[in-house]
Amino acid sequence: MTERGAVLLPPSPAAIARAGRLLRAGALVAFPTETVYGLGADATSAEALERLYAAKGRPAHNPLIVHLCDLEDARLVADFDDRALSLGAAFWPGPLTLVLPRRSDGPVSPRASAGLSSVAVRVPAHSVARRLIQAAGRPIAAPSANRSGSVSATTPQHVAETLGDRIALILAAGRCPLGVESTVVDLTRQPARLLRPGGLTREALEAAIGPLAVPSGAAEMAEDARAPRSPGQFSRHYAPSLPVRLNVTAAGPNEALLTFGPDALVRGGVERANLSPGASLDEAAANLYALLRLLDKPGRAGIAVVPIPESGLGAAINDRLRRASAPSGADGTTGRPPLDVTRGADHDRR
Ligand code: TXA
Ligand code: MG
Repeated sequence: MTERGAVLLPPSPAAIARAGRLLRAGALVAFPTETVYGLGADATSAEALERLYAAKGRPAHNPLIVHLCDLEDARLVADFDDRALSLGAAFWPGPLTLVLPRRSDGPVSPRASAGLSSVAVRVPAHSVARRLIQAAGRPIAAPSANRSGSVSATTPQHVAETLGDRIALILAAGRCPLGVESTVVDLTRQPARLLRPGGLTREALEAAIGPLAVPSGAAEMAEDARAPRSPGQFSRHYAPSLPVRLNVTAAGPNEALLTFGPDALVRGGVERANLSPGASLDEAAANLYALLRLLDKPGRAGIAVVPIPESGLGAAINDRLRRASAPSGADGTTGRPPLDVTRGADHDRR
């Protein structure tokens, strides 16, 4: 037990079997994937999904990703066209989520889709996630294991800090290797749309199925805010408590500095963390959320971030940093509460 109440267990066969039983009984279980920790619930149970939305503080209109063991199981949940079949064959198991027409005769509760006619499906690569889905014997809905709108969790300790008092069990298997969430592609449209850059690069996807459309611009954001097609794409998201300022050349007064590559910019006295001293974007992605959490300390003026290259995983890193730096009220829901340094680690943002 932790002080916040969750049980943390290493992923032994007995612990995974126990987690599977808990999921079948409608409880919430956090588990590692190759991207970030997920907060899992039985995707076939509307009650379990309600519990999941409540624990995360997730708006009811933001749908969930359904995790499955393989492409064959995913085909019971969603309708796969040729593009979907070829993407699934090429990139699963792995950090790719496909948004597809939901099968009404499938096992998944419509609650996972939050009122949409589509459903998001993914086959994770992490062995613990795969063994857990098998042990549960049913599809698992799993958003990132953080309070809605705040920084995702890449270690079991991150999960315990913010959700520990709300979940039955955390399967604790160390750091997630990729560190940023899966890439989300909407295949319900032609051409396919890149809804969220992530662990699988756009370059790899486009080599497989040709050019992707990328939603952008104020008009589309406004349209999505009125009738969200991917509500998790609201601007403000993945955000620490402190304001985040991007593309800086130096930290301002009392700001912490998040750097990348050799620390030429840094002068003494500035609290700082380096995403990757060797300028590796893969290493930077793996470190991103842990370092944002590390620098997000009460009493600071904010977090300043140096420019990060846009290639490879840089696209996902910059996407998360842009959303973390979006102004108050840009999350399409209730906006950012006033900074309250007394609240400490409880990132209670909706
Ligand atoms: O790497 C990941 O994808 C992690 C791990 C745990 O698998 N999960 C994750 O889930 O990041 P979450 O809930 O934090 O993000 C899911 C994203 C949200 O932006 C959501 O709006 C979008 O996928 N999404 C889910 N279902 C959708 C749908 N039917 N149509 C459009 N977007 C959808
Ligand atoms: Mg998330």
